[in-house]
Amino acid sequence: MAQIIDGKLIARNLRQNIRKEVEQYIGQGFRKPGLSVILVGDDPASQIYVRNKEKACEKTGFESTIYKLPADIAKDDLFDLIYKLNQDPTVDGILCQLPLPQHLPKQEVIEAIDPGKDVDGFHPINSGRLFSGIDSLLPCTAAGIIKMLKSIDFQFSGKKALVIGRSNIVGKPTAILLLNENCTVTIAHSKTRNLAVLCRQADLLVSSAGKENFITPEFTNPEQVIIDVSINRNATGKVVGDVDFAKVEPVVKAITPVPGGVGPMTIAVLLENTLIAYRNHLKLYEL
Ligand code: GUN
Repeated sequence: MAQIIDGKLIARNLRQNIRKEVEQYIGQGFRKPGLSVILVGDDPASQIYVRNKEKACEKTGFESTIYKLPADIAKDDLFDLIYKLNQDPTVDGILCQLPLPQHLPKQEVIEAIDPGKDVDGFHPINSGRLFSGIDSLLPCTAAGIIKMLKSIDFQFSGKKALVIGRSNIVGKPTAILLLNENCTVTIAHSKTRNLAVLCRQADLLVSSAGKENFITPEFTNPEQVIIDVSINRNATGKVVGDVDFAKVEPVVKAITPVPGGVGPMTIAVLLENTLIAYRNHLKLYEL
């Protein structure tokens, strides 16, 4: 039986610490941290993610504003909103929910956000800083994965880590963070050969393949720790990850569940990033 890495619990503890710190600042007369979330169009999954971010802000004592924009919004109107939020001294974090409708240039949108307010950590200034091993606002899912591993006292140094997926949101930043922790890192993707063999050799497997029942026991070994990042819906509408949990959980060392694993951590780190940006804006020291 594997140790179940309870992302819900770890995220709750992180949120409580953030909340306590924010309460102290407010007690000293400072304003609340402010997060602005932009949602373009009506993608159902994005609507749920944004609603969850809004709820987490409310519970943690943050000011959140959701900008719901029509799917056919003109590019200039979206950029005008971003420039306005960049200038607004009460806004610490700006997040534009992805994916965006086809006619909007994703990369230009990411680069329009003030890097100091880029709580997604997607701006090239922040990804460049991560690449160079300098302090930066980190992509939330990747940073959340590292926190989960630290919570089980995973000893990173010298371990073989295999990351499935090379997205800018999850795979690449997770690989760099693991490298910064002195893991020996392999990034696998859709063109990788002999994936099961590579996975079987790994001490740590991070999967963001987006495929139900993709990770079976032949990808594992008894000492392996598995972080399942994906959120898939199966034929019955149930939320599942990449791992065939019923078969894999009994034969590995530790594993994250889906739901209740990486998902809650992503939101907790978003709040932490907003707190970091807030401290920087108000020139506060970490309490
Ligand atoms: N869509 C899926 N994940 C993310 C995320 O972490 N940030 C944003 N902005 N959009 C997403």
